Amino acid sequence: MEYIRFGGGQDKVSIIGIGTWKMGRDRTAETKAIRHALDLGINLIDTAEMYGTESLVGDTIKGYEREDLFISTKVSPHHFHNDDVISACKRSLSRLGLKYIDLYYLHWPSKRIPTAETARAMERLLDEGLIRHIGISNYEVNEAKDVQAALDHSRIGAAQDEYSVVVRAIEGGILDYCRRNRMEMLAYSPVVRGTLLDKKYAPLLGKLSDIGEGYGKTPVQVALNWLMCKGTIPIPKASSAAHVEEDAEAAAFRLSKRHVDEIDTVSDKYQKRQLGGAARGLLKHSSIWSRLMTKANERPAAKH
Ligand SMILES: NC(=O)c1ccc[n+]([C@@H]2O[C@H](COP(=O)([O-])OP(=O)(O)OC[C@H]3O[C@@H](n4cnc5c(N)ncnc54)[C@H](OP(=O)(O)O)[C@@H]3O)[C@@H](O)[C@H]2O)c1
Repeated sequence: MEYIRFGGGQDKVSIIGIGTWKMGRDRTAETKAIRHALDLGINLIDTAEMYGTESLVGDTIKGYEREDLFISTKVSPHHFHNDDVISACKRSLSRLGLKYIDLYYLHWPSKRIPTAETARAMERLLDEGLIRHIGISNYEVNEAKDVQAALDHSRIGAAQDEYSVVVRAIEGGILDYCRRNRMEMLAYSPVVRGTLLDKKYAPLLGKLSDIGEGYGKTPVQVALNWLMCKGTIPIPKASSAAHVEEDAEAAAFRLSKRHVDEIDTVSDKYQKRQLGGAARGLLKHSSIWSRLMTKANERPAAKH
């Protein structure tokens, strides 16, 4: 496995992580899958207070060396008031069984609670050593700038946004902001929420498959590697050993610039059907966005 130094600092992070949204249905299989990922060298596990998977992650990482792991979780916008951020973080720490969180994200922007208040609380967590890095998720550039301006003596370390060969709305926006500000970008839904292999993406899949043949890699591995070539860290959710292995192996090669460009060209055709910059910005400032995010992040029904 290849690693980077997070934000150019000391923390070592694998160039691919594992997501846990919608886990909690079969804890035995999921625990096994996450441990398999850890044993293959993936050290970044992504969760959120809203996913209901922090205790699964906490149970799974028992027995692993703390400093070998990089655990990220997220505070939900209804906890963005000062004291709520602090207590939400402490609850997350307790569920995770940790003394500190490596990367603590604001899950998505709040239109109700002043950014300055939330930023103060996040900095207090940093100062008290309960978190090591501040992250933002689903923030536009202007919103990221507001958070950064509200921070007194720290920098935002990372952003997390949807990014895949099918959804590239962050290009020219928050992705460029991250590059300019030495922030990491974590790409969520990198396998298009498990739909990348659907027939509707046939032309794109054909290209991924053709290119993959030359490297001995599958279309999913090519799609994940494309995200790494863009300088982002994909965090696919995988709950079987086979998927974990396929995803981890995506880090074991590097696409040529020519192949990245060829994928861009085919993938461009899908972008017209996605919400672009201005429309996405408008949607985010409406209450529909908050409802969509809450719905999208709802805790799945547990099986056990
Ligand atoms: N910040 C946010 O607002 C936000 C929003 C969404 C997601 N996220 C984070 O990003 C993570 C990943 O995103 P996601 O779960 O939405 O979507 P995703 O990773 O694009 O897709 C997950 C689906 O892809 C399947 N899969 C994984 N590897 C595969 C492979 N090699 N071949 C075929 N299928 C494969 C998984 O199947 P199996 O489970 O059966 O293995 C699962 O059904 C989440 O788990 C979460 O941690 C964050």
